[in-house]
Amino acid sequence: MASNRKLLVLPGDGIGPEAMRQVMRVVDWFDKRRTVSFDVKSGLVGGAALDAHGTPLTDETMALAQDCDATLFGSVGGPKWDNLPFDKKPERGLLRLRKEMDLFANLRPALVFDALADASSLKRDLVAGLDILILRELTGGVYFGEPRGVSTLADGQKKAVDTQVYTTREIERVARVAFELARKRSNKVHSVEKANVMHTGVLWRETVTKLHAAEYKDVTLEHMYADNCAMQLVRRPKQFDVIVTDNLFGDILSDCAAMLTGSLGMLPSASLGAPDATGRRKALYEPVHGSAPDIAGQDKCNPLATLLSFAMMLRYSFDLAADADLVEQAAKNVLATGIRTPDIASAGASIVSTTQMGDALLKELDKLAA
Ligand code: IPM
Ligand code: MG
Repeated sequence: MASNRKLLVLPGDGIGPEAMRQVMRVVDWFDKRRTVSFDVKSGLVGGAALDAHGTPLTDETMALAQDCDATLFGSVGGPKWDNLPFDKKPERGLLRLRKEMDLFANLRPALVFDALADASSLKRDLVAGLDILILRELTGGVYFGEPRGVSTLADGQKKAVDTQVYTTREIERVARVAFELARKRSNKVHSVEKANVMHTGVLWRETVTKLHAAEYKDVTLEHMYADNCAMQLVRRPKQFDVIVTDNLFGDILSDCAAMLTGSLGMLPSASLGAPDATGRRKALYEPVHGSAPDIAGQDKCNPLATLLSFAMMLRYSFDLAADADLVEQAAKNVLATGIRTPDIASAGASIVSTTQMGDALLKELDKLAA
């Protein structure tokens, strides 16, 4: 079926391809029902691209990503490529996609499915019903700031430099996304930085405060230092709705928030650019987990984070909320029957492989759509 929804699939390394295989079965399921179809292209990224082409992302694949409506990304990296120079590392492939598509807004929801509340390392009552959204700035800060690098000093020591940089515009555009998202949720934003020690933190706080006063007074805004936020996330996570923060703090706090939900294997994310004249945003969807080389190739990873990333794509890139709901509901129902991949296993659960999780999801989708 011809479709104007151009989708690029980049499975990557480690468990990426295994998880993606199950999600592609769901994409095919939609295609067969002839309700939602995609023009799917696929490519290599990370170590896989490095092995095949000597670079973690070819210019051709980069151009494909620019041209597609959305990219579904797996994971990159592994011990095989750990000791390469920086510009060759598999992670550069992902960072290049983020930077060149200007995907500055990274949405990382941490949502606790009721069936999994006991899989969290925190007590059930602290996390049951948890629904928070970490909005991570993704194209600035210390990940990209100049100068950066390693040099040798006169006395033979080495010196390494990374630079944290933010401009007013970079802060304002991500803060705007935070306020807009909060309005559709519980209307509360925590802006997180280290204004007590960092100049970028001071500018961050000033800029968010100004934007709030000018345009978003109806949204509750609180400022919080990043270290306190880490503590509050494990102390009383339900105090949060939307957390907006910089690239590095967002990286750290989102792993922390992920674990509240029981497993990193559950968390999807969306990385969005600015809307163009037609309202379309460049977008990349990826699980928050990495390539998990220790379990790769064993058909035991959890495909749900990639599946839920696909659901986010349906919602944010294609405005298909009902279909996104369908996918999320299928995942919830499967979990409610006690089916679990090993990472979210609990007493009494039936442990299944990645493929069997895919089987269960398809069966559930058939049931829901019947
Ligand atoms: C993430 C990952 C990446 C990051 C790595 C793989 C470059 O940890 O998406 O959170 O640090 O941003
Ligand atoms: Mg990370």
